[in-house]
Amino acid sequence: MDNFVIEGKHTLTGEIPISGSKNAALPALAATVLTEDTVILERIPEVRDVWTMMRLLKHIGVCIEQSDNAYSFKSELISLPEAPYNLVKTMRASSLVLGPLIARTGRARVSMPGGCAIGARPIDLHMNALEQLGARITQDHGYVEAQAPDGLHGSNIRFERVTVTGTEDIMMAAVLARGETVLENAALEPEVVDLANLLKKMGALIEGEGTPTIKIQGVDRLRSAHHAIIADRIEAGTFLIAGLAVGHGLTVTGVHAAHLEAVTEKMSQAGAEISYPREDAIYVEPKEPLRAVDISTQEYPGFPTDMQAQWMALMTQANGKSQIVENIFENRFMHVSELSRMGAKISLAGNHASVHGKTTLSGAAVMASDLRASAGLLIAALAASGETVIDRVYHIDRGYEDIEKKLAAVGAHIRRV
Ligand code: EPZ
Repeated sequence: MDNFVIEGKHTLTGEIPISGSKNAALPALAATVLTEDTVILERIPEVRDVWTMMRLLKHIGVCIEQSDNAYSFKSELISLPEAPYNLVKTMRASSLVLGPLIARTGRARVSMPGGCAIGARPIDLHMNALEQLGARITQDHGYVEAQAPDGLHGSNIRFERVTVTGTEDIMMAAVLARGETVLENAALEPEVVDLANLLKKMGALIEGEGTPTIKIQGVDRLRSAHHAIIADRIEAGTFLIAGLAVGHGLTVTGVHAAHLEAVTEKMSQAGAEISYPREDAIYVEPKEPLRAVDISTQEYPGFPTDMQAQWMALMTQANGKSQIVENIFENRFMHVSELSRMGAKISLAGNHASVHGKTTLSGAAVMASDLRASAGLLIAALAASGETVIDRVYHIDRGYEDIEKKLAAVGAHIRRV
């Protein structure tokens, strides 16, 4: 198991290129199952979760080829509409193949995703919606079995709570259903919009993506398409916060600044100078001593839960007390105990965390628990005095491409051992 060894208190200066979005790539990969034609995807990030999804697609019967920085996917025949436990247990986003498999083959057998560090993370909303589209869902031996021998039919579906991959899963099921499907209370995330753009290039009839109401007219078949994935707004946000914690003028490039407004707004309130040197670049520099700023995680366009741990690490370096409320997941404070071991002063009450800054952090041996908690520990390590060793960095490799190379290139003292 790899570790990261970080020597803190080195300032970050320069430009970091941002990779394609993991959370846009995963549904786009699943969408290639919807047609027997070739789909070409660019800007696929080289991260573990993408490898897991590609292994799953190959298991299902998709042929995958790489040519320079694009991948082509062709599934003339779906040999096995199944997502086995050994793959799903490492990545719950595997449930994204549920909708495409039922739409393409009329059946699917997907292992129930285990919970993960941040919560139970059920997929009841996905299954209820698929039943409304005409699928018969049964569960046994830890698997979800879905059958739709006569195909799926359109329906009016209202999600009782906003679900990102639920919206994506059902959108992919509905594009080949007979008739019209209306999704109410749909997720607004840019990754949902990017998936809709890919599906429309494949011939799907979708409108309203990016709003709470998405309308889909089913079509008989989808065809080949060529699509470049959007930039990873969470990777960009993670580096911007690092640049505010220990930066001296850091720019992230290849990004969509509009996708990060909730984060850059809070950074400005905390004392950052934020500017836009180019249409696809964001610059950050600490303008004055960091001020404590409260956050409350919300669905897009609110402050993203995937940036909560990174923000908490930053607030340990801000003067004053900040309140952090986690509204999306029930157990997303795994980073608190590790940050405390580095000297942070954080008190917890239910889904509220209070950070008392500014505290001097000292390097320590810490353990990564989940993808974004690990990113928070990394930011703390960059700001801490002395050496930090982060264990189990495979959590970080799930969603960040070459993170130690990107950070070292702008001045961080970080190495993988
Ligand atoms: C997506 O997960 C992201 N993953 C997560 O990013 C992100 O944290 C999350 O959205 C929220 O923004 C991908 O896009 C691959 P949800 P998802 O369904 O779709 C509950 C990362 O770090 N819920 O929007 O699984 C659920 O338990 C990952 O990249 C149900 O109760 O999240 C949660 O409390 C972590 N039943 C809330 O809804 C369901 O059927 C939001 O979950 C589905 C979800």
